[in-house]
Formats: sequence, C-alpha cells, structure tokens
Amino acid sequence: MNEILEKRQLNPTVKLMVINSPLMAKKAKPGQFVIVRVNENGERIPLTIADYNAEKGTITIIFQEVGMSTKALGKLNVGDRLHDFVGPLGVPVEFSPDVKRVLAIGGGVGVAPLYPKVKMLHKNGVKIDSIIGGRSSEYVILEDEMRAVSDNLYITTDDGSKGRKGFVTDVLKELLNNGNKYDEVIAIGPLIMMKMVCQITKEYNIPTMVSMNPIMIDGTGMCGGCRVSVGGEIKFACVDGPAFDGHKVDFDEAMRRQAMYKDMEKKALEEYEH
Ligand code: FES
Repeated sequence: MNEILEKRQLNPTVKLMVINSPLMAKKAKPGQFVIVRVNENGERIPLTIADYNAEKGTITIIFQEVGMSTKALGKLNVGDRLHDFVGPLGVPVEFSPDVKRVLAIGGGVGVAPLYPKVKMLHKNGVKIDSIIGGRSSEYVILEDEMRAVSDNLYITTDDGSKGRKGFVTDVLKELLNNGNKYDEVIAIGPLIMMKMVCQITKEYNIPTMVSMNPIMIDGTGMCGGCRVSVGGEIKFACVDGPAFDGHKVDFDEAMRRQAMYKDMEKKALEEYEH
C-alpha cells in the first residue's frame, strides 16, 4: 500500500507519481483529492487526484515542487512508500445531463485537476473544447492526455514558445466572440486566471466551475484553514468543495489568504535546503 509505482518529471517543477492504493482507486471520482504526508513529522499536503484506475488499483497525483514538503515528496522514488495517503476527500463533481458542450480551461499545474473531469465528460459523450496554457512550452502539462479527451485543444504560452502567444483568456474571448456556445465552463489554474475567466464568462452568462486549492490542514472540515467565501457564505474547500461556482467565489479574498503565509513558507524552505 502507498508504494510509488511510477515517477515522471512533467516539467522543471512538476512531477507525476502513480501510487498503489487499491481501496482508494475503487472509490475515487473526478474532483476529489488526497492528503499526503511524506514522513511522521511531515506537513499534510492536499493534492488533487489527477487520474485513477480501479482495475490496477492506482491513484495518480501531480504536484508542483513549491515548498519544503512538496520538494521532500519529489525526492521519493519508485519503490518508496508514502507515510500517509488519505482519501478520497472532497465532493466529487457532477454535471447535469443537459450539459452537452463544455469549455475546459487549465493553467499550469491546474491542468492536473482538470483532466479527470474532462475525461469523464468525454466518456459521457459531451463535446469538449479545451484551452491549456503555461508560462512557456515546458510548463504546459498533459497535452497528449487532454488532446485524447477533447474535440478541440488550444494551447497558449506567455512567451509563444508553444501554441499561441498570450493567455488562455485570449482564446476564451475569441471562441465566445466567434459565437461558440457552451453549457458550462470549467476553469482550473492560478487564482488570477480563474478570476479573469469568471469575469468573462459572467458577461456571457455561462455557468463556470472553478476548483480552489487553499491551504489545508486536516482536510475534514475541522480546522477552518481552507475557508473560501462563496456567495457571501463561508465554505470549506475540503468538505464543501474544492469545486465551486466561480461566479460566486471571492477571488480577491482568496488571493489575500494565499499570500498570508508566504514568508513562513519561504523560511521553512530555506531551512530545509540548507
Ligand atoms: Fe481544515 Fe478544510 S482543511 S477545514
């Protein structure tokens, strides 16, 4: 249990791991996440389930090495075991049968949580246009996987080293201006990207699902660390989400909360690396 069966570097800071976890693989659904601890004293790291295979008994996680704990996780190799691997947590996403055409938008490592949702929709016969983007070509992840489950795939990079130069929102505006109609938009990526997408889709009145990735501690609704304001109400991303109606999320507050621990995170990383 919890053994790392496969490890791949997807870009300079993002790694994929396939974990042996038969019980979780049977229960997992798109939109859910796991909490990982690398060792006994390790921080609890929430990570989206990027894929799962009930027959093989595996769960795929994709993570960006941004701080001390994710770097420690990235150092583990095939054959190593995770100290804790808890899940599936969170509310699985559901789509109404009336949803026939979806626009899926992923930025950076946000494509990882986007993929299982798109895969499920594609399997259910929904027509999908996808836009995925990154800073430059090496930051665009899961291109082949997303292509396989999308009717049309658009790629953008900030520097133009792959696909179109610009942002995912440029293609979004173009598709909408050209008269494309979508029953739903799913947007997952940096907070600022999700905020910008939601501003545009609100104008067009298209329901938009986002997935929030705030700081989490227990992952069970006890600590309040993952709180997000949605439609003026406090929600906990771990038990009420992580997917929410993007038109109701207070992104400015979420961005302020995300920045709150930056100094402490930096200090912990410096101490870990020296
Ligand atoms: Fe503690 Fe969500 S992580 S309430």
